[in-house]
This record gives sequence, structure tokens and C-alpha cells, in this order.
Amino acid sequence: MATRFSAAVLPLLLGFLLLQGAPSRAADADTVAVGRPLSGRQRLVSRRGKFALGFFQPAESSQNWYLGIWYNQISKHTTVWVANRDTPVSDPASSQLSISSDGNMVLLDDRAKSPVLWSTGVASGGSTVGLLLDTGNLVLADASNTSAVLWQSFDHFGDTWLPGGKLGRNKRTGEVTRLFAWKGYDDPAPGVFALELDPNGTSQYLLNWNGSMEYWTSGNWTGDGFTGVPELTAYSKYPNSKYKFGYVDGVDESYFFYDVKDEAVVTRFLVDVTGQIKFLTWVESAGQWILFWSQPKAQCDVYALCGAFAACVENELPSCRCLRGFRERRPLAWLQGDHAEGCVRDTALQQCTMREAKNDDGFYAMPDVRLPSDARGVVSAASARDCELACIGECSCTAYSYNGSCWLWHGGLINLQDTSSTGTGGGSGTILIRLAASEFTSQGRTKTLIIALVIVAAAVAAVTVAILVSVFVLRRRRVKAQRRVVEGSLMAFTYRDMQSVTNNFSDKLGGGSFGSVFKGSLPDAAVTLVAVKKLEGVRQGEKQFRAEVSTIGTIQHVNLIRLLGFCSEGTRRLLVYEHMPNGSLDRHLFGSGPSPGHGVLSWETRYQIALGIARGLDYLHDKCRDCIIHCDIKPENILLDDAFAVKVADFGLAKLMGRDISRVLTTMRGTVGYLAPEWITGTAITAKADVFSYGMLLFEIVSGRRNVEQRPDGTVDFFPSTAASRLLDGDVKSTVDRRLDGDADSGEVERACKVACWCVQDEEGARPSMGTVVQALEGLVEVSMPPVPRMLKVLGDPANYVKFFSGLPST
Ligand SMILES: *[C@@H]1O[C@H](CO)[C@@H](O)[C@H](O)[C@H]1NC(C)=O
Ligand SMILES: *[C@@H]1O[C@H](CO)[C@@H](O)[C@H](O)[C@H]1NC(C)=O
Ligand SMILES: *[C@@H]1O[C@H](CO)[C@@H](O)[C@H](O)[C@H]1NC(C)=O
Ligand SMILES: *[C@@H]1O[C@H](CO)[C@@H](O)[C@H](O)[C@H]1NC(C)=O
Ligand SMILES: *[C@@H]1O[C@H](CO)[C@@H](O)[C@H](O)[C@H]1NC(C)=O
Repeated sequence: MATRFSAAVLPLLLGFLLLQGAPSRAADADTVAVGRPLSGRQRLVSRRGKFALGFFQPAESSQNWYLGIWYNQISKHTTVWVANRDTPVSDPASSQLSISSDGNMVLLDDRAKSPVLWSTGVASGGSTVGLLLDTGNLVLADASNTSAVLWQSFDHFGDTWLPGGKLGRNKRTGEVTRLFAWKGYDDPAPGVFALELDPNGTSQYLLNWNGSMEYWTSGNWTGDGFTGVPELTAYSKYPNSKYKFGYVDGVDESYFFYDVKDEAVVTRFLVDVTGQIKFLTWVESAGQWILFWSQPKAQCDVYALCGAFAACVENELPSCRCLRGFRERRPLAWLQGDHAEGCVRDTALQQCTMREAKNDDGFYAMPDVRLPSDARGVVSAASARDCELACIGECSCTAYSYNGSCWLWHGGLINLQDTSSTGTGGGSGTILIRLAASEFTSQGRTKTLIIALVIVAAAVAAVTVAILVSVFVLRRRRVKAQRRVVEGSLMAFTYRDMQSVTNNFSDKLGGGSFGSVFKGSLPDAAVTLVAVKKLEGVRQGEKQFRAEVSTIGTIQHVNLIRLLGFCSEGTRRLLVYEHMPNGSLDRHLFGSGPSPGHGVLSWETRYQIALGIARGLDYLHDKCRDCIIHCDIKPENILLDDAFAVKVADFGLAKLMGRDISRVLTTMRGTVGYLAPEWITGTAITAKADVFSYGMLLFEIVSGRRNVEQRPDGTVDFFPSTAASRLLDGDVKSTVDRRLDGDADSGEVERACKVACWCVQDEEGARPSMGTVVQALEGLVEVSMPPVPRMLKVLGDPANYVKFFSGLPST
């Protein structure tokens, strides 16, 4: 077939050959010039191969192409600059970067209405070339003298500031170079967050929102540091450092610069979609960017991060949640991390005129929130009721809060923070949010139904189900969830049932990557106390959700938390689990949160916990019908019952959440955590990814501290590396939590450390199965001395953590 050309193919082929014969660029040159444009799959590669320029798509699912610069020598595509940030190209084959006759460098799209999508805006009239340098700088220069630069991308940063670039202000023109965050992870268009040198002329750097509201400042430059960032140390103080860093206040310009002396070090500085500035360094052997510095430290300190009518939740993902009665304005953008547009009402408020305000709007009380700062005080209100009336009386009033004084908010509520899980005391209060009356009608008459539900759940009768279904059909109201229906061993609840069970979600037990958990009680059931998980961001349809939930429901093991029921109604998805009185392992290991009078976990308990988790995972991986990869093993997901027996939680949820899970996990952890390297390198995930996370967790069980800790001097201490080297030195006992005063079985400690080290091997194949781990911990198989994984070697060497700001001159 391939050997014969049909008549139709021949002209095409000739055309192709002719095209090939036309003057075209050599593969991977570093310049564009007149008559040598760049198009389609062609790329510019800088002379020593550091950077590449060409067309790329920010996400596989994206229809849009952009012309950008990325690292050419690292294994993860990382864009550092984009030309056409908000004018994407639909087809790179019909687009080209070229030098126009007037010497301007332009990006053209033949198919676009106005073909010039982007240009440098510099028309010298002379003969010019575009040149990609090994610094990642794209310059437009005189063709006969490329040192004569007419325009450079280093003066027009995107979200990334590369070593060698200057971030500052031209005092003559008043022009400042700014870094603008991407709008979303898949959308390079300029977002609302930007970093710039104070345009007012002081020496401080500012992060601002939408060109105004400043929400973070570095403080003024003192000569060797910024007042607000004590960890920043001037290069001038440490001339021998590997990194140059400093601030220059000259006659014509003032700027901040940084540079790297060692070319092998790959670092970048960016304003992230999260509104935070981040300094990252590439660690090839780990296959990932390691975050070593970011500001502001608290995600919720970023101004208007969640847009209107949403609450920010610290240390959770997604960081933003719509308030009750509201939904995402742009759900797709929301999923891509762009929350700027906030949320909109499910039910519009009634048209209201100042004169005849209808009093039937309701107010939903949201406790434990950091109140937005833009409140207006009302002097005349002497009670909470007066305050409510004051709000009702004003059309645009959307919320009030009464704390002895009355405060009203108008328009879209921004900067609300839900502090119920973090317990950040300062500025917390209760806010009452105005909702349409119909949002409240569902409450108050559920109690009897719940009781009926539970009784029926205990004795399922097909007849009853049939009768109930017909009752539902007879009722005109569209009640979707099959109340009282039992699927397999699972109870199906309506959302109203859930509200009643949890007393309207009043007692929050915690949060996590998939959503918040609330305490509840089922009257008259065998298991009375329950934990209700309100899933966030489930994109699955009803049917698929039920199928997945049924699968999870069939999984029963003494070391796995039991799913009792679920609710799936409209877009709401909830899961009902047995309640574990001793909470999660992190509380007991790291002493975060209230430690309910139990002191430090003894070594025996720890060993049993390690074994319990291993048995639970072994069951998930090997012993149940469909193998389940947990994907999110960490202390927060290990629950403990009243006898401190392990119940692994949240299994099966990764699948429920769909393929965005890896983004959720990586953005959440940011740095080295429990994630196996394959999560970051993008290769297929197997059960061995859980084994890796288990190994990391096991190190924490031994040490009683987080694996990654920042020392006061800013350097990073990575415990698994320490443990691995002590293991080789035969000194494992010193790795055990100091709080145990050496009260631990040396044989078990050694076994645990060896197993942990085997579990975190770089190659999946080298890691044991969970079944083998169980046998090893039980002492049934002998554990040989593990090799030290490459990753632990790299992360154990402090030289790999950039010393920019640590104040330590390099040796
Ligand atoms: C090339 O341009 C640079 C910068 O404008 C200038 O300093 C240099 O003298 C020029 N070289 C020649 C050979 O013209
Ligand atoms: C800059 O000056 C303007 C006007 O004087 C002022 O409103 C603004 O707050 C100043 N910005 C900073 C960061 O001081
Ligand atoms: C951002 O600022 C522009 C004007 O500078 C304004 O029109 C726009 O409404 C602002 N965006 C938001 C979300 O407030
Ligand atoms: C920085 O210095 C300017 C005066 O040069 C002063 O007005 C400003 O308050 C200082 N900013 C901080 C954060 O100290
Ligand atoms: C009441 O709330 C306002 C606004 O958040 C705050 O400024 C004020 O200090 C609070 N008053 C008391 C007594 O807590």
C-alpha cells in the first residue's frame, strides 16, 4: 500500500518536496532571521542546549498552542516564558515566528482575523535576527552585531524570573518589570497576581492583586537584606557563595538581581497561580522541582485568592470552597486552579427595592471564619436582630456579623477564611450570609425520616423499596436520591438526611485533600457515631459514582475504615464512615492539635500501627477483588480506634476523583513528601507508589517528626537520609523519637528502618510488596541491608538545597 502513489497523492508529494526545497531553517538552530522563520514543530535551541523555543500546549487536553521557552535539558516540560500569553494559536503549522521587513520580530497566524498575534514592537528598520541565549533570554539584535540588543524577553518577564535577569524599575522611563502569574495551571494568560518593585520609588518588592491591593511586601532594602524577609541575605555579605544575589540602586535604574555561578544548578523564581512567589531548584535525580522558599507562607494570606463568595481553607486542596448556597462561577477554570471569578448564588435573591424590602431572605451562620476586612459598621444596631434587620434593609447587603457591634458587608464577599480546622484564633468570628428563603425550606422535618431510614436499612424488604419508590414518583417534587434504599451493604442517604445526621455539619472533625469531615450520629443504628465526608471536586456522574462507592463498600478488613453509606444528590457527594475516637495518626505522632491525654505513643504501639497499616494496604493491593491503589498514604489518613488499632482511611477516593488526582497531590505537597518519584515523572502509577509512601510514613513513625523540616537557618533537614546513613553505620537506635528515652526494641527499630529504606527505593521493582513488608515486620522473613536510594543521597546533601538565603557561604 505504501509503495504505490495514487494520482491524488502525487501532487501533494510534489508540493511537499517543493516546500522542502524552499529556503528553510536548519534543525534546532538558535536564530530566526529574515527568510528563516520558525513554524510547526520546529524549535530554536540555545547554543549550548540549555533552553528551547517553540510551540507548546500547556495541557494535553488543551486546544491552544503558545510560543514559549522551556528548559531543554530537564525531564519535565517547564515553561519559563510565553510570547502570546493571551492570544493562543490554534495550529502551529499555520503560525510562524519571523522577522518582518522592518526588523520587528512577530508571531503570525495565517488563520487568525488579525494575523499578528504578538510582536516585540521594535521596528528598527535595519536587518535584525531573533536569538535564543543559553540564559533563556530571547533577544532581537542587529543582524551584523548580535551584541546590539534592541529588545529582550528578560525585560518582559512572564511569571518566571530566571537567573541573570533584572527585576526592577527604569528611573528614566518609570517602566517596571513585573512578574504576572498564569491565570490557571493550563492557561498562561496574565492572572491577577503580580510581583513588582514598588512603583512609588521605595526599595521594597510588592505582591499585588489586580494591579492594586498589595498583600505582601519584602520590606525596604537595608543594604544587605530586606527588612521583611530576614532569611534573605545579601550576596555582598557572602562573596564566595555559589549564588549571586543583590539589589542595585543606580542613577538610571534600580533592580534586584540573582545569578548562579555553577551552571549545573537549575533554578527559577516565579509568581505561582496560587499568588505566592516561589523559588525552586531542579533536582535531576529526584526528577522534580524542589521548593525551597516561598512567600506569603500562608496560602490564605493571598488577597482575594478565592474570589467572591468563597472561603479559603489553609493546608487543604482545593484551597477555595464556595460558601453554602453558592457554586463555582467557572467550574472548569476553578479546577485548573483559577479561583479568581469566585462563586455565584444557587438561588438568586429576590429583587429588592429599598422601599419595600421583603423580609423573607434567610441568613446562614458560618462560625469560625476570619472575617473580610472591608466591613462597614452600623452604629444604630444594638442587638444581633437589629443588625440582621439593618442588613435586610439594604439591597446590596450580603452578610453581617454581630460581636457587640454590627458589621455589614456589601457585594461579593472576598477574603473570607474558614478557620474551623486550623483554629487560627485571630480575627475569628461568625458571619451570617444572606441567602434566598428557599435555601432554608428543607430543614427541620427530617428527624422522623432518619429514624425510619435506619430501621428500614436494618431490614430491607424489596416490597418496601417498591412502595417507597412509587411514593416518590407520586410526589411531584424532584427527589433524586433513593432514600432508604440499601445498595449492597451500604445505606443511601439524602442530603437532608445528612444535614440532620451531622446537625447541619456543625462539628467538623478535619479536612483533607478530598473534602471536610464532620461528626454525626445515626440514632438507633448499630454504629451510632459516624464521620461524614463531604467530597469536593468530584466530577463523576451519578451512576459511576454509585458503582465506585459500591466497590469501596464491599471492602472490609480489620485495618481498613468501613464505609457505611453515601449520599449522591445533584452535585453533592458525601460518604458516611464509622467514627474513630482517637482521630488520625499525625495528632499522636507530631502532637499537632489536641492530644487527648495520651502522651507519646510507645514503641510497641508504633510497631503495631506500622504493622496494621501494612496489613490494610496488603489487603487493598492483593486480597480484594479489584486491586486498589490508595495514592494518598500519609499520617492524616491513618485513623486509630479506641484501642489504637489502625484503620486506613480514604482508600478508593483517588479513583473517585478522576485523573486530576496527581495535580491535587503534587500541588498540595509541593515539596518532598510521601510521593513516589513516578508521580512527578508521569510514568504509570502502580501499587508500588503506595509502598513508597508507606516507607516515608514508616520513617515518621520511627522518628516521631515530619520527614522534611526546615531548620531555623533556612536549610532543609530530610530525616530519611539521616536514617539511611545511620542504618549503614549500625546506629539505628539514635533515629528513634527522643521522647521515648531509648525505650524501644533495637531489633524492631532496625527492621523498621530497613523496611522503610527498601520501600523508598527509586525503582519500583526494587521495592517490596506490602505482603512482603507485613512478613518482614512480623519477623517471618529476614531483611537484608538496603542500598541507599539515589533520592535519599541527593536530598541528604545540604549542598542540594540552595543556600541563597541561608546565610551560609558555600564551601
Ligand atoms: C556591537 O554592539 C555593541 C553594543 O551596542 C557595541 O558595544 C559594539 O561596539 C558593537 N560592535 C561592533 C563591531 O560594532
Ligand atoms: C504609593 O503611593 C500611592 C499614592 O501616594 C499610595 O496610595 C500607595 O499606598 C503607595 N503604595 C505603597 C506601596 O506605599
Ligand atoms: C481589576 O481592575 C480593573 C481596572 O483596573 C477593573 O476594571 C476590574 O473590575 C478589576 N477586577 C476585579 C475582579 O475587581
Ligand atoms: C520603606 O521606606 C519608605 C521611605 O523610604 C517608607 O515610607 C516605607 O514605610 C518603608 N516601608 C516599610 C515596609 O518599612
Ligand atoms: C468586632 O468585629 C470587628 C470587625 O471584624 C472588629 O474590628 C472588632 O474589633 C470586633 N470587636 C470585638 C469586641 O470583638
